[in-house]
Amino acid sequence: MSTHTYSAEELKLFKEIKEGRTFDSSEELPTFYRKHLLNLLWMQGDSEYSGALGYMPWIAKAPTLQEKVLVAQMVKDEMRHASVIYRLLDELGQNTADHVNNSDLGFKLDEDQINIGFKRIKPDYRVNIFYYDIKHWTDYILFNFLMDRAAGHQLLDTFNSSYLPWKKAIEGIYKEEVMHLAHGDKWVKILSREPEQKKFLQERLNLWWPRVMNIFGSTVGATNDLYVNLGLKQRTNGEIRGVFVKEIEEMCKENGLTLPVYKEEEQPQREAKA
Ligand SMILES: [Fe+2]
Ligand SMILES: [Fe+2]
Repeated sequence: MSTHTYSAEELKLFKEIKEGRTFDSSEELPTFYRKHLLNLLWMQGDSEYSGALGYMPWIAKAPTLQEKVLVAQMVKDEMRHASVIYRLLDELGQNTADHVNNSDLGFKLDEDQINIGFKRIKPDYRVNIFYYDIKHWTDYILFNFLMDRAAGHQLLDTFNSSYLPWKKAIEGIYKEEVMHLAHGDKWVKILSREPEQKKFLQERLNLWWPRVMNIFGSTVGATNDLYVNLGLKQRTNGEIRGVFVKEIEEMCKENGLTLPVYKEEEQPQREAKA
C-alpha cells in the first residue's frame, strides 16, 4: 500500500474537483492533474489502436460473409476510437503521429497458454491484455464478451469526467463498445448450444479469464483513489471489477459455463517502477 501523502495544493485541487470543478482546455490544467490525465489517455489510445490491429486478421477469418462485415465494422470502430483519443492527446501537446509510427502497436505474443499477469512487454501504453493474440474465433468472441464489456464499464466512468473534451468524446465510443459486447453475448449463446464448441469455449474462457481480470490492476493500490480524487474516474478499479464480474457470472450461469477462480495475489507482478 502506498504511503504517499499529498501536498496542501493537491488536497485543495481534490476538494475543488469534488465540488464540481472541471477543465476544458490544455492551458488550465494543473501540472499534477495533467500528468495523470495523460497517463489515462495514452493507455486508452494505445489500447484502442492495438485492439483494432488485433481484430483485423478476423475480417478474413470470420466464419461467414456477414460476420466478416461485422468484424470489419468493429475494426473501423476501434481505429476511430484511437483517432479520437489521439486527437485529445495532440491537443494536450503530445505527438501521437510519431508515437504510432515508432511503436510496435501491432505486436502480439506468440505463446498461447501464457499469463503475463500485470507485466508490460513493450514500451507502449496499452492495457496488457492487448499483447495476447486472438488465435481462434472463440477467442474473438471472448474478447467481445469479456474485454469490450470491461471497457464499457470503464468508459461509463468517463461520462462524468472532470476533463470535458474527454467526456464529450466518450459517448459515441461507448455506444459502439455496447454493440461489440452484444456481438459477444450472441455468439457465446450460439457456441454454448453445441457440446464440442461449448467445451472449447470453456477451455478458452479459463485461459482468458485471468487475463481480463488483470486489466483492472491491483485493487489495493493508491492510484485508483487518486484518479477518483481527480474526477477522472468515479469508481475504483475494485468497484468496477465487482460489477463486471457479477454480470459475467450471470451470463455464464445462463449458458452453462463455469467461471474459473481468480486470485489477484497469484498473478505475475509487474516490476517495481524505478
Ligand atoms: Fe474501443
Ligand atoms: Fe470494442
